[in-house]
Amino acid sequence: MPRKIAVGNWKMNGTAADLDQIKALAPTAASAGVATLICPPASLISRAAGLGVDIGAQDCHAGVSGAHTGDLSAEMLADAGATHIITGHSERRQDHNETDADIAAKTQAVWRAGLTAIICIGESEAQYRAGETLDVIAAQLAGSVPTGAGPQNTIVAYEPIWAIGTGLTPTVDEIAKVHAFIRAQLAKALPEGAEVSLLYGGSVKASNAAEIFAVADVDGALVGGASLKAADFGPIVTALATAS
Ligand code: 13P
Repeated sequence: MPRKIAVGNWKMNGTAADLDQIKALAPTAASAGVATLICPPASLISRAAGLGVDIGAQDCHAGVSGAHTGDLSAEMLADAGATHIITGHSERRQDHNETDADIAAKTQAVWRAGLTAIICIGESEAQYRAGETLDVIAAQLAGSVPTGAGPQNTIVAYEPIWAIGTGLTPTVDEIAKVHAFIRAQLAKALPEGAEVSLLYGGSVKASNAAEIFAVADVDGALVGGASLKAADFGPIVTALATAS
């Protein structure tokens, strides 16, 4: 069975004062009994680690070390206390022109450091409107998920770009169709592909979490805005724990 996991992506938000949100989330995460991960900005990772919730990073460089001003390697993020690293978030694909090949290389760097990669895929609004969603997803899976991926080192997050930060979500039928497609593609491509956890991301909040988690092949969520406050994210973690 794929493992359930609730992941919060703080993006470029949070300073030391916000560590209290992680402390406040810890008892909920512990009692819910599902894996819970917060990915704060890299500046907070070392201080966030050890507060009772697993901590991840939002990006890494593909290399180990060297002349790359401003970049952080997966090894450095592991050293700071990260257990997971997000690769291929649409904001990095858009803002930093990251390609599928870049994301595959970063994912291999995550594995090299002994961490789990959370590989993000998802179509744009124009692609959605043109009915190209499954074609886009297939191409992104083929290009950004390296052979060697399995449940022990990889999670895949489906985040339709038009649903991120907009309050819009696909219908549960649309989420079900895309997740079933991703599951089938991974099962075909990888020996243990069917066991990889699949997350939905895009405007998940406490009020829609339960219906999204009831969808077949949804093993958790990648949450942006609603992960910043423990009072918002805690109920999402609890909804995941109670989902069948
Ligand atoms: P929102 O939950 O704010 O829509 O963000 C989703 C996301 O991009 C998480 O990585």
